[in-house]
Amino acid sequence: MNFKKVSEVRKIFLDYFKEKGHTVVPSSSLLPAGDPTLLFTTAGMVQFKPLFTGAVELPYTRATSAQKCLRTTDLENVGKTERHCTFFEMLGNFSFGDYFKEEAIEYALDCSVNHLGFPKEKIWITVFENDDEAEKIWLSKGIPKERITRLGKKDNFWGPAGDSGACGPCSELYLDRGPEKALPDCGVKYECKPGCDCDRFLEFWNIVFNQFNQDTEGNLHPLKQTGIDTGSGLERVALLLQGVDSVYDTDELRGIIGEVEKISGKTYNESTKVPFRVITDHIRSVLFTVSDGIYPDRTGRGYVIRRLIRRAVLFARKLDLKEPFLYKLAKSVCDIYKERYPELEKHISSVERTLLAEEELFLKTLEIGLEKIEVLVSKTKSEGSNTFSGKDSFLLYGTYGFPAEMTEEIVAEHGLSFDKKGFEEELEKDRQSSRETWKANKVSLFTGIKTDKTQFLGYDVLEAESDLKFIFSDNKQTSTLKEGESGVLVFSSSPFYPEGGGQVGDIGFIRKDGSVFKVLDTQKENDIILHIGTVLSGNFSDGDKAILEVEKERREKLKFHHSGTHLLNGALRNLLGNHVLQKGSIVSPEYLRFDFSHPSPLSVEEIRNIESWVNESIVRHIPVDTKVLPIEEAKKTGAVAAFDEKYGDSVRVLQMGDRSLEFCGGTHVGNTGDIGYFFIKKESSPGAGNRRIEAVAGPLVVETFQNRFAELTEAVQNLNLKIKDELGEEGSSLSIKTTIPGPDEIRSLFESKGADAVVTLRDLSEKLSVELEETQSKFLKEKKNRESRDFENNPDIIAKVFENSKVIGTAKIVSAIFESKDAKALKGLSDNIKVREKEIVAILASKNAEDASIVITCSSSLVGKIHCGELVKTACEILGGKGGGKPDMAQGGGKEVSKVEEAVRSALEKASSSLNGGK
Ligand code: ALA
Repeated sequence: MNFKKVSEVRKIFLDYFKEKGHTVVPSSSLLPAGDPTLLFTTAGMVQFKPLFTGAVELPYTRATSAQKCLRTTDLENVGKTERHCTFFEMLGNFSFGDYFKEEAIEYALDCSVNHLGFPKEKIWITVFENDDEAEKIWLSKGIPKERITRLGKKDNFWGPAGDSGACGPCSELYLDRGPEKALPDCGVKYECKPGCDCDRFLEFWNIVFNQFNQDTEGNLHPLKQTGIDTGSGLERVALLLQGVDSVYDTDELRGIIGEVEKISGKTYNESTKVPFRVITDHIRSVLFTVSDGIYPDRTGRGYVIRRLIRRAVLFARKLDLKEPFLYKLAKSVCDIYKERYPELEKHISSVERTLLAEEELFLKTLEIGLEKIEVLVSKTKSEGSNTFSGKDSFLLYGTYGFPAEMTEEIVAEHGLSFDKKGFEEELEKDRQSSRETWKANKVSLFTGIKTDKTQFLGYDVLEAESDLKFIFSDNKQTSTLKEGESGVLVFSSSPFYPEGGGQVGDIGFIRKDGSVFKVLDTQKENDIILHIGTVLSGNFSDGDKAILEVEKERREKLKFHHSGTHLLNGALRNLLGNHVLQKGSIVSPEYLRFDFSHPSPLSVEEIRNIESWVNESIVRHIPVDTKVLPIEEAKKTGAVAAFDEKYGDSVRVLQMGDRSLEFCGGTHVGNTGDIGYFFIKKESSPGAGNRRIEAVAGPLVVETFQNRFAELTEAVQNLNLKIKDELGEEGSSLSIKTTIPGPDEIRSLFESKGADAVVTLRDLSEKLSVELEETQSKFLKEKKNRESRDFENNPDIIAKVFENSKVIGTAKIVSAIFESKDAKALKGLSDNIKVREKEIVAILASKNAEDASIVITCSSSLVGKIHCGELVKTACEILGGKGGGKPDMAQGGGKEVSKVEEAVRSALEKASSSLNGGK
C-alpha cells in the first residue's frame, strides 16, 4: 500500500464519487439542525436524514461528503486505546432512491482497491445474517465465500441516528492486517474473523442499506424509497494506508501531538502517550465544537464540551502543564485544519477566549479537588467499601467543579466503583433546595452587622486584594472559618457585586496562600458586602489579606443583560409613554426580565418596534457615562428611579446618550455597541395592569435563534413527513418548502449584519410559525376532505346502504347509521345513492363524539308524497335537537347520541306511511 496523507485520502474519496455523479456536499455543523434527540452530529448521514425519509424535496439523488463528527460515548477510553477519538471525519457516499446494493458494493470495492490502494485479497466482508442478496453481490465481485462473514443485528444493522429516522442492514469492509496484529490473548489467533474483538481485522467502510424508517416508538416502517448511507472513518483509512498502529500516529493528529510537545517541552513516547493523546483529541473536538457555536456549559451539549476541556486539563498535569495552555494550542490546531474548515479561523479568537476562561475557572479548584479526592478515596477504603459514594462525588462536583464522569474515571484508577444513582439523587436534592434555602437563611443569618461600609471596586476591576474584617458563621461573629465550613466574609473593599437593582450577586473565589473560599452568592446589608460561601481548603481569619476574584464570564453576561434592561426601559418609555414604570426586574446571566405598568398586551408591531429601538441604540455605539451625584442634584437630571430601591445621600446616575438615564448601581458595558444584539423572547402579564418582557442580550441571542430554528426545522420536517405519509404525492404542493437557516448560517448572519440579523431572523421565524400553523390546518382540512370523498364514493359503503332497503310500490327507502361523519359527508353519500334509483328515500345518520347528525333526501319525483324537512324534524325531536330543510333534502342533529336508532326508525316509519298514502 502506498502512503497517503489524510488530505489525499479525503480528496481521492470525494473526487471518486464526484466522478460517479455525486454532488459534493460540505460538512454540516456539529450541532445537528432540527434534531434535538441528537447531541452532536455523529455520522455523515445526519444532515441527510430528511432526504432519506422523503420529508423534503430531493435536491439531488446522489451525494458525497467528508463530515465532521463527534462521538463521546466512550470518552473514558479516549487516549488509552489506539483508535478511540471523540472528533473524527467521516467520508460517505449517499443515495436517495437512486442506486442500491449492487452499485454501492461496486463503488466501495472499486474505490478502496483501485483508488485508495487497498489490496483486494486482504479485504474481508461482513453482511447481515439474512442478507443473501448482499452476499451474492460480493461473490460476483470476486470476494470468495470464506472471506464473507454473517453477523447479527448488533454488528450489521445500523441506525437510526437519534431517536428516529432511516436505518437498515449493513455490510462492512475490513482489512486483514495479518495474524501478528491479533491480541496475544486472542484464542483464535489464526482463525479469527471480522467480529472478533482483536486488532487483526480493522473495519474501514460501512455500507448501510437504508430500507426502514424507525419511528420514535422503535417500530420499523418500510421507507418509501430505499437508500444508501456509507461511512468510512477518515483517520482509520489513513491509519491503514500509512501503516501505523494508532490513529494518533497519522499525519494530522501527529501534527497536533507535535504542538503539544512544543508547549509542554515533553516528548511523546510510550510512557507519555496517554496524556498526549487525550489533549490531542480533546483540543481538536473543542476547537471544532466551539467554532460551531457550542460553548461549555452546565448542562446538555455544553456540558460535554466542559467535560472535554476539564479532562484535558486533568491529564495535562501528567505533562507538568499546570497553567492554562489549551487556549494557546488552539491556534496551531486551527492552522492544520483551516483550509478545509474556514469556520475555525473565523472563530479562533472566541475559541481562545472561551478556553482561557474555562481553564482558569477549573484550575482554581483542581489542585484542592485532587487532594480532596485522595482523602475521600482513603476514607472509602478504610470504611471497607469499594464504592465511591454519590455524596462524595457530588461534593467534588458542586464544590470543585469535577464532572461526575471524571470523578468516576479517577476513582476507577484507585479500584473503586462509582455510585451514579447516588450522585444523581444528590444533584436533584440540591436543585430543589438550593436557592430557596439560601433565601430563607439569609434573613436570619445576616442581620445586625455594624461596621464601615465596604468599598465596591467592581465597576473597574474583577480582582483585588483586600483585608478581611469580619467573619460570620452560624448566626454569629467568629474569628476563623475552617476548611469545610460555610459562612460570610466581609472585607474592607471588594470587586464582588452584591445582588441589587435586579442584578443577581457575583460568584467567584477568595484566596490567601493555600486557602480558598468559594463565593456562592453576594448580598449586601446596608452598605456592607457579604460574601457567602464555603472554605474549600485552609482557613480564613480576621485581619487576613486575601485576593478576591469574581467569575468573569458570568459577569460579562450580567453586563449585557443589565445594559440591555436600561435600553429596554428607555424604549418602553419612548414608544409607549411615560406611564411606564418599572415594577420589577431580574438581571441574570441567562436572561433579563422586566415588569412594567402598562394596561394592555403589546401588539406584535409594538414588540418589534421596542426591540428595534434597543438594537438601534446598540448600533449607534453610544458611550455609557456614570456620575455619582448628591441625591437632590441627581433628581434634577430627570433620571428614572426604580420603584423598589432605597437611595442614599448620593446616587449613581447612568446615562446612555439620549436613550437612557437612570439611577443605577449595577455593572454595565462601556459602550452600547458592546452589547451586540438584543432579542425579545416573550411578552406576558405577571398580574393585572402590568406587563412582562423577557429578553436576551449579547452572544446569547445567537444561541437563542439557533435553538429556535432547530425546533422549527424539526416541526417542519415532521409535518412534511406526515403530509407525505398520509396524502402521498398529491400532498407535495402542501408541504413547506421554505429554507430554514442552520446554526452556521445563523451565526454568519449575525457576524455580517450585526443587530439587523435579529429582525431578519425574527421575521423568518414568525413567518415560519404562521406557515406551519396554516399548513397544519390545510393538511387537516385536506385529510378530512379526502376521508369524506373516500367515504362518499366507496362502493362497499354504498352497497351496504342498499342492503338495508325497504320497497314500497315503485319506491325504495334506504337507511344507515355511521360513526364520526359530518353532515357534509352524509350529504355527499346521499347524492351518490340518489342517482342509482328512480324513486328513493335515503335516511342517513351518524353518531359522533358529542352529537348525532341526520340527513334525509329523496328523488324529486317523490316530492309531494314525501317531505324530507318534515321527516328530519320528527327525527330531531327524538335526538333532542333541531333540523329542517327542503322537501327533497333536509338535515339536522341533536345531542342524544344514544337515540339515533330510534330517530332513524321513526323517520323510516313516517316515510313508509307517506309512500303508502298515509296508511
Ligand atoms: N451511518 C453509518 C455509520 O455511521 C454509515 O457507520
